[in-house]
Amino acid sequence: MSEGNALPAPSPQAEALSQALAARIAGEIERAGGWIGFDRYMHKALYEPALGYYAAGSRKFGADGDFVTAPELTPLFGQCVAVQCAHWFASAPHAILEFGAGSGALAAQLLDALDALGVAPRRYDIVEVSAELRERQHRTLAGRVPALLERVRWLDALPARIEGVIVANEVLDAMPVRLFRLRDDAVFERGVARTPGGRGFAFADRPADPAFARRVRDTLACAQERMQGEREAFPPDYVSEIGEQAQAWVETVAARLARGAMLLIDYGFPCAEYYHPQRSSGTLQCHYRHRAHADPFVWPGLQDITAHVDFTAVSRAARRAGLASLGYGSQARFLLDCGLLDRFARVPRDDARRWTREAQAVQQLVSESEMGELFKAVAFGRDVPDDAPGFATRDRRGVLA
Ligand SMILES: C[S@@+](CC[C@H](N)C(=O)[O-])C[C@H]1O[C@@H](n2cnc3c(N)ncnc32)[C@H](O)[C@@H]1O
Repeated sequence: MSEGNALPAPSPQAEALSQALAARIAGEIERAGGWIGFDRYMHKALYEPALGYYAAGSRKFGADGDFVTAPELTPLFGQCVAVQCAHWFASAPHAILEFGAGSGALAAQLLDALDALGVAPRRYDIVEVSAELRERQHRTLAGRVPALLERVRWLDALPARIEGVIVANEVLDAMPVRLFRLRDDAVFERGVARTPGGRGFAFADRPADPAFARRVRDTLACAQERMQGEREAFPPDYVSEIGEQAQAWVETVAARLARGAMLLIDYGFPCAEYYHPQRSSGTLQCHYRHRAHADPFVWPGLQDITAHVDFTAVSRAARRAGLASLGYGSQARFLLDCGLLDRFARVPRDDARRWTREAQAVQQLVSESEMGELFKAVAFGRDVPDDAPGFATRDRRGVLA
């Protein structure tokens, strides 16, 4: 464990949980001969039963948590996503399957807004890997949309056949990634070992296995082909990550979508921007009490660890599974096209506190310097028309080809 200086200290109970998780990870490293892949470390740090960040009881979302997601900021976010879902309901069954529902805020907003539009889904299924969050989602929905709660089910496994609309907000970024280091043109896999004194963890590189090395080289070549203007060479020391699990997840879920659409919202870039030679230390980021930093070894289990999404790879995975592309663009454009400003205009001005809160949230959602441009919306579908309102004015799907 690193010292984590400058970050606020956890409570003694939280620290004890983190130490228990660190001991478990250390044991796994020992059994594996001194090294595990970073994806394995990230999986344990986030999802180890009862101890991982998403599995244990820390607050996570909101002002007293570690980070804020769009549905935590304002119900206007869910209302806009509902406009898009309602449109797809014209050609697909009225059912939603949400992955990684967090606190349940987006589910509550979607159920409420779709009901108000007269198209409440007949079924709202949630797939959530964290048992602790499932309980939290149930409490949120029971409190906010009690009349629709009976339509919500928590699934233990991915359905074999999906019909309706799939939604996942900030889920791909929470999936474990494999790290690589390109050093003087040789490919290494960056994994995790114990520090020499044995008290903590540190990055450790070893030659990549042939399949991973090929994947890294193909990814970088694909990025270079798509770079505009003069191609820049990669620097002699270049570190980044490959979201293998996110890509496999998209392909699996997409293959099971028999009729309907899939909407993914997350932060990331097309491959040419993701694997730009100047982005030479990748996109790995940790969040602890609203501070972002790059050390994944600080208090394992108490902080979120994320990586940006390679939307080119995501799009290829969905298309391999036979889905058609329905649009790609910034979150700002998507929300504006779904009527964000009209909805904001309906917030009563005489409730000054609420109005100010919503105004700040809208600004955060659409501002280029905040979530508006870094976050993207991407949609794929099977047997639905290619006329999604969320991508009506500035569809950039061409960059993902
Ligand atoms: C960053 S949070 C986002 C939560 C929520 N969607 C929001 O916008 O507030 C990531 C969520 O994805 C869940 N998750 C991660 N991997 C998952 C998977 N393979 N299937 C379902 N949920 C997953 C986590 O447990 C957590 O609820």
